[in-house]
Amino acid sequence: MDIGAQYGPLRAEIDAAIAGVLDTGRFILGPNVAGLEAEISERLGGRPCVGVANGTDALVIALNALDIRPGDEVITTPYTFYATAEAIARLGATPVFCDIDPDDFCLDPDAVVDRITERTRAILPVHIFGHAANMTAIRTIAARHNLPVIEDAAQAFGGACDGTPVGALGDLATISFFPTKNLPGIGDGGMVVCRDQATADRVRRLRFHGSADKVVFEEVGYNSRLDELQAAVIRIFLRHVDDWNDGRRATAEAYANAGLDEFLELPSERPGVRHIYHLFMARHDDRDALAKGLAARGVSSAVYYGIPMHLQPVFAHLGYQPGDLPVAEACASRALALPMHPHMTEAQVAEVVGAVAEVVGQVPARG
Ligand SMILES: Cc1ncc(COP(=O)(O)O)c(C=O)c1O
Repeated sequence: MDIGAQYGPLRAEIDAAIAGVLDTGRFILGPNVAGLEAEISERLGGRPCVGVANGTDALVIALNALDIRPGDEVITTPYTFYATAEAIARLGATPVFCDIDPDDFCLDPDAVVDRITERTRAILPVHIFGHAANMTAIRTIAARHNLPVIEDAAQAFGGACDGTPVGALGDLATISFFPTKNLPGIGDGGMVVCRDQATADRVRRLRFHGSADKVVFEEVGYNSRLDELQAAVIRIFLRHVDDWNDGRRATAEAYANAGLDEFLELPSERPGVRHIYHLFMARHDDRDALAKGLAARGVSSAVYYGIPMHLQPVFAHLGYQPGDLPVAEACASRALALPMHPHMTEAQVAEVVGAVAEVVGQVPARG
């Protein structure tokens, strides 16, 4: 990440937006939250959007709005940030982990079919690292079993699949504005994208203690509102997110053009998908040695999801064993995020590729 490069040119606009909120004194659910909801809704074919406190709450509230409860099963991917699975467990339901597609790191639709039971209540694919899951196949399976699909779009705002934007591909979708996301805030924030007005009304109620009018409390809800200051700033970033995503795509292309694929397995893009490279995940058999070698050369990198969800201690009671989900486990041990942001220069790309070449030259590939 290079926060300075991304926000620096917008600093005056950000300062003015914050001052504007202070001037109005409307800090909770003011015009900026409503404005951001409307602007994102417009991008997503008019689907109603509801701002909440963060992407984790967005998942919990979306699942709650589908009445997911103890005893229910929700099928999801083991190769994601913990929040996806945690949200399912938070409602007392059971996450059912299915293996992933080695090409795109996302839930493998064929694996989903095998895990549907009479307790399955929803399918929760994650558009991981900015690449849309195979929603056409997942939706077909879901329709056959009359199951709703919730997209965890935390990492993929601005991505698309067959011309439909991420967030409008399932029944509900959840967004995170965590500061490292493609559409960031300057703190926590999230949103639920709803299939219809009735669901949106329920989500709106849930984010405010289960009440539509602060007088009558209809159910146990949450205090989970998108902050007005965050919304004011995210509205500015929203005007730049497509350019930023183009910049990320250009960085990915520059890596490929510079010959990085000679040394590492690079992320691919399924036909029809617009990958927006939230993270640029390369793969190598000696991943840890690669990371160490890059660090020694001043190039930062990071492991994402080194322990897949089915092997996390919190889910030990579900009984998964190493080897159960081999593709996810291989990604967990082989994938490494390389530097990626919208403003990377050719020189920076060349520096990374040069460092990888040096390190990989020293590490005999095993596989
Ligand atoms: C895939 C995924 N789902 C959910 C979340 C949770 O979002 P938040 O951090 O805004 O709660 C994140 C990111 O943090 C994420 O990457």
